[in-house]
Amino acid sequence: MCGIVGYTGFQDAYDIVINGLKRLEYRGYDSAGIVLENGNKKLEVEKTKGKVDDLVNISGKLKGVAKIGMGHTRWATHGVPSDRNSHPHLSNNGKIAIIHNGIIENYDTIKTMLTEKGFTFKSETDTEVLVNLVQYFMDLNSETDFPTAVRYALNEVYGAYAITVMHEDFPGVLVVGRLGSPLAIGIGDKEYFIASDASPFVEFTKEAIYLEEGHMATISLENGVDIRTINDNSKIEPEIQKLKLSLEQIEKGGYEHFMLKEIFEQPKSIHDTMRGRLLVDEGVIKMAGIWDHVEKFKNANRIIIIACGTSWHAGLIGEYLIEEYARIPVEVEYASEFRYRNPIITDKDVVIAISQSGETADTMAALKLAKEKGAFIYGICNVVDSSIARITDAGSYTHAGPEIGVASTKAFTAQLTILTLIAFKLGKHNGTLDNTSFMSLIAELDLIPKKIEEVLSTTHELVKNISKDFVKSTNFLYLGRGYNYPAALEGALKLKEISYIHAEGYPAAEMKHGPIALIDENMPIVIIAPKKGHYDKIVSNVQEIKARKGKLIAVVNKGDQQVSEMADYVIEIPETSECFSPILASVPLQLLAYYIAVYRGANVDQPRNLAKSVTVE
Ligand code: M6R
Repeated sequence: MCGIVGYTGFQDAYDIVINGLKRLEYRGYDSAGIVLENGNKKLEVEKTKGKVDDLVNISGKLKGVAKIGMGHTRWATHGVPSDRNSHPHLSNNGKIAIIHNGIIENYDTIKTMLTEKGFTFKSETDTEVLVNLVQYFMDLNSETDFPTAVRYALNEVYGAYAITVMHEDFPGVLVVGRLGSPLAIGIGDKEYFIASDASPFVEFTKEAIYLEEGHMATISLENGVDIRTINDNSKIEPEIQKLKLSLEQIEKGGYEHFMLKEIFEQPKSIHDTMRGRLLVDEGVIKMAGIWDHVEKFKNANRIIIIACGTSWHAGLIGEYLIEEYARIPVEVEYASEFRYRNPIITDKDVVIAISQSGETADTMAALKLAKEKGAFIYGICNVVDSSIARITDAGSYTHAGPEIGVASTKAFTAQLTILTLIAFKLGKHNGTLDNTSFMSLIAELDLIPKKIEEVLSTTHELVKNISKDFVKSTNFLYLGRGYNYPAALEGALKLKEISYIHAEGYPAAEMKHGPIALIDENMPIVIIAPKKGHYDKIVSNVQEIKARKGKLIAVVNKGDQQVSEMADYVIEIPETSECFSPILASVPLQLLAYYIAVYRGANVDQPRNLAKSVTVE
């Protein structure tokens, strides 16, 4: 959840750390801080509640001076967002500084032990406990050097962490460790970078080491990168990877927000997700991850899809797709519930985990449980080499490119694309999808990027104008049926997370079982009503809404009449097969949420209380 940046080398550490923090701000943004070596072998910390821009306003004393430093952007877990609780934290002797992403679960016990030894604490954080534990081990035995003390400390704690530590008596040295939270080391020429992902250093180097679970590294200008296992100090040979990330991918490219850029990237991101997999001319779908294990899927008792948030909504659509085309029973579970309800899992089950970030702690924990019980684990992740991608038995990357806006948009439609490919591939193999239908479905799927382009160009201005009328709304209902019921849930989630307007998604037919009581002339209702997919039933739902004077925004197919005549606002999307309609319908709903939030003055890319990857349970 938090963002970590570190630097040691010959450049201005202040600039590198601050610019790096700006790139990682999507990970958490309630406070920010920096620690630099001041040129006289002393550590100086500047930190504040608020955003990186607030940190810039109060810092800069050591700009141009420091050649080593580190910084942090926080999403609060232990202790409210405040100057005191912001990272970096210093040890009692002021010599050691730490930044931390994650949670130290046994911090309380350690804090009690350290307090009895005379340590005092300025913050309410678990992190300050860890840095003092490092000091404790160094004080205990003058022979214990800094990296060893960090290792001893890490062996005492449990929980999840990515940490970077520096010590004023060890110039040019950074010590890092990882368990459950990501950490990358950028390898430059006579300089090293540390970050939660590669975006802070991509303009300086294309070579990186992704630290593995349970590993730590001592990084020094003199000796390079020394990687060890945390538990027994075994030496590990570093595996240097070539980064594919480009600067362009992580910048706004002229858009006002990342979210808008990412909405507009969807024709390309879906195309990239299908590239090399959907070969329409040859009439095949190539997916090695599925093909190598196709019998596992075919013979599975059932497929269980595990995910959270938007990825869970994609999972619901995956259920419709896989059951319709591959005829394999599917259950979709919230990862957080699955884990704690003693689920029945056997080695005949296939579990599909869906996660944009590949770091979501709830999903990760549920997967570990399913793995222990012998299920085959398949991952659908966007972030390459992420923790979830690493623990799965096989998987498919979505290739949507970095998604930086906290509200997921292009990752969602890329997830739907992968799930569609999986359903068709399995259906063809199982003989539940005949060749003629397969060929016509894949031909249609191939057209989806073009159809999204059309949706973007025909609905953008329209939706922007519609949004102005709903800036003062306090509630919204989103309705859809069949494949578009999860699309309604997703539309509602988008609106509430970025505009803070309360919104509920419902299957349209469920409305009469309760939510209809909410409908009056002040209640905006978004209904997804494409021609293919229970249209007649939706018409009846629309009549029920209009009889109660609800304000209706209808997403319909081009040329629609019946629903359009009753709607207050009409948004047209091109016709497509029912199973692809959530992809097209999601685009105007993303724009609607985006513009309502913008007109309400909300921080669209960094909505309050949220963070991009939720690495705590
Ligand atoms: O990275 P993941 O896909 O595992 O994240 C799951 C949810 O935290 C995420 O989809 C969240 O709901 C988004 N903010 C939705 O826009």
